[in-house]
Amino acid sequence: MKDKLLQTYKTDRLTLAPVTIDDAPDMYEYASVPDNAYYVFKTNETLAETKAIIERIFIDNGLGRYGIFLGDKLIGTIYLLNLDDQNKTAELSYVLNKKFEGNGYATEAAMKLREVFFFELGGERLYARHTLDNIKSMNLMARIGMKVEGTLRNSYYFHNRQVDLVIWSIVRSDLDIG
Ligand SMILES: CC(C)(COP(=O)(O)OP(=O)(O)OC[C@H]1O[C@@H](n2cnc3c(N)ncnc32)[C@H](O)[C@@H]1OP(=O)(O)O)[C@@H](O)C(=O)NCCC(=O)NCCS
Repeated sequence: MKDKLLQTYKTDRLTLAPVTIDDAPDMYEYASVPDNAYYVFKTNETLAETKAIIERIFIDNGLGRYGIFLGDKLIGTIYLLNLDDQNKTAELSYVLNKKFEGNGYATEAAMKLREVFFFELGGERLYARHTLDNIKSMNLMARIGMKVEGTLRNSYYFHNRQVDLVIWSIVRSDLDIG
């Protein structure tokens, strides 16, 4: 699957493309806001920290990681992670600058990677996980056709306590392909 991933994908309103160092100010704009970072990473304290993260995560380990661009502006990121060629599975993960929430952008980006996963990479099972209180993420999983599988009890160390994760998935036979 990995070798079939392209660098760039287009949707009606967005471009999914690699994050570069030039995108650091746009990423810092939301990564430095505690409320925005809460579910996904440690709040970035400085622009230099964001630049180091872009180098380490998006450039050195960028496979399956896309910036979500509205025009030239980076408004979030979305990933196809844990790509498992043998079992044809992957995990979907995402974060959006909260200033851009409520417009369907994350859903549009996720639907694109859903299409890529099933129809270009030949994937069979795309899954995602959220903490119980992350309703916006849960709603997104439902919007892209995922179904709840269950609870991974006590599986995530989150803000100094061990919590449950809810796991959702969409499998090839769920797709409405007639
Ligand atoms: C999870 C997250 C990406 C969801 O963001 P979001 O803006 O709610 O999701 P979307 O961009 O798909 O927008 C959907 C919202 O826009 C509305 N919307 C407007 N136009 C729309 C369109 N064309 N298509 C779909 N939804 C649209 C929807 O009704 C929905 O609003 P609602 O929740 O009030 O019903 C965002 O909250 C986030 O980044 N959270 C922090 C990181 C995080 O938790 N990541 C996941 C970890 S498991």
